[in-house]
Amino acid sequence: MASEKRREQILLRAEFLKEQGLGYILDRPALHAIPKDAGQRKSQPKPPKNEAASAGTGTLDELREATRDCRRCRLCDGRKQVVFGTGNPEAKLMFIGEGPGADEDAQGVPFVGRAGQLLTDIITKGMGMNRPEVYIANIVKCRPPENRVPLPDEAAACLPYLRAQISAIRPEVIVTLGKTAVLYLLGTEAPITKVRGKWLDFGGISVMPTFHPSYLLRNPAAKRDVWEDVQKVMAKLGIPKR
Ligand code: URA
Repeated sequence: MASEKRREQILLRAEFLKEQGLGYILDRPALHAIPKDAGQRKSQPKPPKNEAASAGTGTLDELREATRDCRRCRLCDGRKQVVFGTGNPEAKLMFIGEGPGADEDAQGVPFVGRAGQLLTDIITKGMGMNRPEVYIANIVKCRPPENRVPLPDEAAACLPYLRAQISAIRPEVIVTLGKTAVLYLLGTEAPITKVRGKWLDFGGISVMPTFHPSYLLRNPAAKRDVWEDVQKVMAKLGIPKR
């Protein structure tokens, strides 16, 4: 029987999902793990990996379906398609960027343009992983006009989807790419130069903020910093140094 505390947690999460219009997925056990105040709390008990896995791709597929015709914010007006996210539904490692650009909007897949190629190189050449092993998503799922930074109300409208994705996947580590991702996911307003490379927490999941690959395209010297951050992630995940 569920303890009183667990019951309370489940009710809080149910309330959260209903508020977000996602009440129909309440029978999915993995989604009960969505912390109402994730991002504010220092830590939260992590459900076993297989709890998320038992909801499997079905949960992510249902979420994808829920976002397909989303009209929660103005970004829906200019998009070609929703860029939901891609990768392993049981990934240990998740990358979160800012929002789709023109290439991503055209293909419906995050990080497929020039910045995406660099991210792919970081994953494959740097970490020795395959891109399909990780999960990649963005703060907003629709392309902002002229690739501008998403506005706070746009990020707030989209965040419940991302939180539900995170809750379904339950990665061990999240890498946030650039200022916007760490700002909107965790409310961290400090400059990215100050927060990068330092472990943060999102509902019990370790978060490593680093520079955005687009920034690296403009400032290749910062690749050294990203490599340092990536090595910390590799150590945490038990990936041998290359
Ligand atoms: N930049 C992002 O932040 N996300 C993408 O998907 C592509 C570029």
